Amino acid sequence: MNPADIASWISDAQKAFSAAADLDQLKVARLAHTGDKAPISLASRSLGTLSPEEKASAGKLIGDAKAAIAQALASATEKLEASRDAKVLLEEVVDITLPVLRTHRGGLHPISIIKNEISDFFIEQGYAVEEGPELESGWLNFDALNIPADHPARTMQDTFFIEPVESGVVLRTHTSPVQIRTMLTQKPPIYVICPGRTFRADELDATHSPVFHQVEGLVVDKGITMAHLKGTLDNFARHMFGPDVTTRLRPSFFPFTEPSAEVDIFFNNRWIEWGGCGMVNPKVLAPCGIDTDIYSGFAFGMGLERTLMVRHGITDMHDIVEGDLRFTRQFGVGL
Ligand code: FA5
Ligand code: MG
Repeated sequence: MNPADIASWISDAQKAFSAAADLDQLKVARLAHTGDKAPISLASRSLGTLSPEEKASAGKLIGDAKAAIAQALASATEKLEASRDAKVLLEEVVDITLPVLRTHRGGLHPISIIKNEISDFFIEQGYAVEEGPELESGWLNFDALNIPADHPARTMQDTFFIEPVESGVVLRTHTSPVQIRTMLTQKPPIYVICPGRTFRADELDATHSPVFHQVEGLVVDKGITMAHLKGTLDNFARHMFGPDVTTRLRPSFFPFTEPSAEVDIFFNNRWIEWGGCGMVNPKVLAPCGIDTDIYSGFAFGMGLERTLMVRHGITDMHDIVEGDLRFTRQFGVGL
């Protein structure tokens, strides 16, 4: 067992391990230099044939050589594993800038979003939210609101009547019948809003739709005046359209309020009607069992589509009703 041979086995193994370019090549080198047929393994096995004195010195030489080879293998393995890991990180990198195929979640229509926002605004001030049916009795939609039988709003032109016409059932033309439903079932003080869908035989145009939404407000309490109405509407308008909104109250007529007014908003270089309002007519309060010597009230009814249009600069009602998702998505999902 020649020490020079053993030294050359070590240096051959070291060279082979450090020449390996990857873990596969290292495995081949490992088998060649540490496997059963490697010179160091054969020498190790032949130790048994030596005399005890020779065995001691040769055994030490071979043991040291094996340790040196194992050390060279370990450091080559460590180096090649590190470079494999670095390569994997590079190859498996995820390009987060790549466009992906997305399925959109469902979302609320902007009218529902604004309806919820208005409800929250009034709930914070102590109002309750009431709802009434879309199929309404003509009596609640008209008579109880002091709209006489010969009023133009009752003709076929404006109102969708439900067959048979003698049923007296209509698609409600406004949310005001919910005022009556509320006063017939609740005692003052009453602070409610009633958002909902309403129907009129109007042509679809830039500012009208046959199916639209209103939000009704009704307050009945002691000492309620027009000043409360104006303050409430100004506050409401600022909340919806920002602090710089310009509004005006224009004297008007509704059979169920006296005095009455329409609320206009300056938008797109012109005045656009936002809704109607007034002090609830005692002729409406009294039949609902409200003592008009003690109580007075105000009411208002605003268009939700108009609210959305003014707030977001939408100039055409078609965009709101046609259901194009490119339009509705701009408002977020609102869930
Ligand atoms: C009324 O409906 C009254 N009930 C409002 C009211 C309530 C007055 C309480 C007094 C007290 P008017 O017909 O003006 O009023 O309608 C109110 C609002 O609904 C309008 O100003 C407008 O914003 C909206 N509106 C009316 N018709 C349409 C339509 N075809 N399309 C979209 N919005 C409409
Ligand atoms: Mg009007």
